Amino acid sequence: MSAPTGSHPPKPGDYPTYLHLLADLHRRLRPARYLEIGVNEGHSLALAGPTTRLVGVDPEPRVDGLDHPDWMVVSTTSEEFFASYDVNGLLGGPVDLAFVDGLHHFEVALADVLAVERYAHSRTVVLVHDVVPIDAPTSTRERATVVWSGDVWKTVVALRRHRPDLVITMLDVAPTGMALITGFEPHQDDGYDGQQDGAVNRNLNPWFDTVVATLLPATYDDFVAMGPDALGVVPCTDQTIDECLAPLFPACFEVSPQSGLNPT
Ligand SMILES: C[S@@+](CC[C@H](N)C(=O)[O-])C[C@H]1O[C@@H](n2cnc3c(N)ncnc32)[C@H](O)[C@@H]1O
Repeated sequence: MSAPTGSHPPKPGDYPTYLHLLADLHRRLRPARYLEIGVNEGHSLALAGPTTRLVGVDPEPRVDGLDHPDWMVVSTTSEEFFASYDVNGLLGGPVDLAFVDGLHHFEVALADVLAVERYAHSRTVVLVHDVVPIDAPTSTRERATVVWSGDVWKTVVALRRHRPDLVITMLDVAPTGMALITGFEPHQDDGYDGQQDGAVNRNLNPWFDTVVATLLPATYDDFVAMGPDALGVVPCTDQTIDECLAPLFPACFEVSPQSGLNPT
């Protein structure tokens, strides 16, 4: 992964949608290895630069082709992918940037984040889509609307409770928000043997089943009742992204008393 590049003046509305944000993160980070859970037609996969190896995972991908020299889509669920595939081998090394956008059930997104962590390093950035629900109809567990965030917001609640070591920034970007997660450590061998059925999460994260059972009944009303600041949602601006990335690449940012962090 390269150090962040480019200096662009902060301005509101830099990121009209999550795809603009993702494109900018690819441009800034130029990740060597990108993992995407949930590719659908490949709109987000297509945003990577030509020097990035792309691995996508989707049980029903609808990608016709991609104008990119180094990409693959594995047609399976994320659970099966992490349980049965040689993830390191497919990526050619640890994950630099990951985008979790598969099944919109929070326990699946949570398992995806924890599984990606096994292939992370200290500068890995993990994005989780759909963490800021917009209303009750679009945040049900069973899909009933075109825009559908499901209950992925609970993924952040669970991580905030049980993984205070991770740095989670909740970005208010259309249509349904994005969590930017950093603070990962290089993976230590834990004897994982590739068992399925979420065994990886139960074995490595003893809190997993409990937090899933606790949060499962929560609804959009509970999200609203928590109050707008409970998840710490912040505007998705260029400045916010600078502040997320600066701790990973301190040599690339300088602090100016007038304008805060500036990419150099
Ligand atoms: C919202 S779409 C992804 C959109 C894409 N990332 C984009 O921005 O253009 C969600 C995708 O997740 C896939 N999906 C559903 N269940 C999944 C699972 N268990 N593991 C991985 N992907 C899954 C669906 O087939 C669907 O294509």
